[in-house]
Amino acid sequence: MSRPARPSRPPSSPSDQASSPPPGSLPLWQLLSGCADAVAAVRQGHSLTDVLAERRPQERPGVQALSFAVLRRLGMAQALRQKLVPKAPQAWVDALLLSALALACGSEYNEHTLVDQAVEAAKRRAKPASGLVNAVLRRFLRERAELLATVEQDPVARFNHPAWWINRLKKDWPEHWQAILMANQEQPPMTLRANQRHGTVAAYRQRLVEAGLLPESDLSAEQPPVNQPDPIALPHGVPVGKLPGFEQGDVSVQDAAAQIAAPLLIHAGGHPLPAGARVLDACAAPGGKTAHLLELADLDVTALDADPQRLTRVNETLSRLGLKATTLAADASQPAWWDGKPFDAILLDAPCSASGIVRRHPDVRWLRRESDIAALAQTQDAILQALWPLLKPGGHLLYCTCSVFKTEGQDRIDAFLQRNTDAQACPSPGHLLPVVEYLDPARHNRGDGFFYALLSKTTQGA
Ligand SMILES: C[S@@+](CC[C@H](N)C(=O)[O-])C[C@H]1O[C@@H](n2cnc3c(N)ncnc32)[C@H](O)[C@@H]1O
Repeated sequence: MSRPARPSRPPSSPSDQASSPPPGSLPLWQLLSGCADAVAAVRQGHSLTDVLAERRPQERPGVQALSFAVLRRLGMAQALRQKLVPKAPQAWVDALLLSALALACGSEYNEHTLVDQAVEAAKRRAKPASGLVNAVLRRFLRERAELLATVEQDPVARFNHPAWWINRLKKDWPEHWQAILMANQEQPPMTLRANQRHGTVAAYRQRLVEAGLLPESDLSAEQPPVNQPDPIALPHGVPVGKLPGFEQGDVSVQDAAAQIAAPLLIHAGGHPLPAGARVLDACAAPGGKTAHLLELADLDVTALDADPQRLTRVNETLSRLGLKATTLAADASQPAWWDGKPFDAILLDAPCSASGIVRRHPDVRWLRRESDIAALAQTQDAILQALWPLLKPGGHLLYCTCSVFKTEGQDRIDAFLQRNTDAQACPSPGHLLPVVEYLDPARHNRGDGFFYALLSKTTQGA
């Protein structure tokens, strides 16, 4: 299998409900075997989302839960395997060893059961290697304390991120880098956005309380101002089918930090965009922010995405929510598709490293390469520059990325402002780190890492 050309978008999110498989699922050896397939594929450069999509439906939840747990401890597991077996075994056997080691370091499984089941998985898939798997894992159990003490000296093992990523965070966030790395190891909350065309957020909270999905204490939280989001964080994740009115479009799943975009752009000028305002959502798929814009205001939205397959998800989302936009499969950096009529507002949720959403995508840190960041910055510059002439004077452009790296955030905006004297920075959130409870601590809304910059176009051009 070949490495994907270049990461340009966060994968769609497999939900992360548990670090152990649901009751009544398949035997552990079978899930470990599938987990080793997934870990081997990620190590070869494949997205976990794509890999999981290829598994049989009955295996998927269990394999996913194990793979999430393993990828969160892959740095530690790799360092341990290196100590125990300096010459890496064949890729699948290696991935099986790494999976068992990672789970033995941090999961609810009994470590002896884990070893027995890993050996069973090896016997069924790679019999000659089963002796090695047995010997290595039993040695780990015997020498665990000393081995852990040794490998924890290495930051990659301690923080479970690549060295370049850790160094970049240290440079960008000298005070917060460790907290960001620790936050990336957490399971994210399931956060909802009530469709305000179908009722108030308070009314939807009440329905969640009645369905036993939200504690009653959540009803007393104050409503935020109109230009602020009102996300609902559930204490436990549930399948979307269990959310009241999901199929009827009463609610969507969207991280708290992502819910900032639509109200911020709609109220950018100090008053809401008027009905019929022309808005471009330039990198729209899968359509979370497009839908939010349309839930909040009667806008004429053009939703663009370069990936036609992902664009079908925008149409599905809009159709479930009963909303309408013009959807276009096109490259935002080459606006040949533009009809020449300026937009009143533009949302650019640019392709990025997805370094802010590592909790939901534990594979991302292992898939990215340091060189990707400079390439992504070039793409971000190109799209920003290409879209600027499409904005009418006096209009606003909201640039955002789900990245915690300054190169993909403030640095892009500083460079843009240097190049475009008709652009002005407006008050906006800037970098949001996954460590700051910036939305509503009472509701435990610790959002993903994000960057937001709002720009306005002066009426006199440069
Ligand atoms: C961060 S995701 C957008 C998420 C989306 N705004 C949402 O809230 O659901 C970035 C998107 O940019 C798209 N993309 C990448 N390069 C692009 C380009 N040159 N023109 C338009 N879309 C592009 C990717 O296909 C991906 O869907």
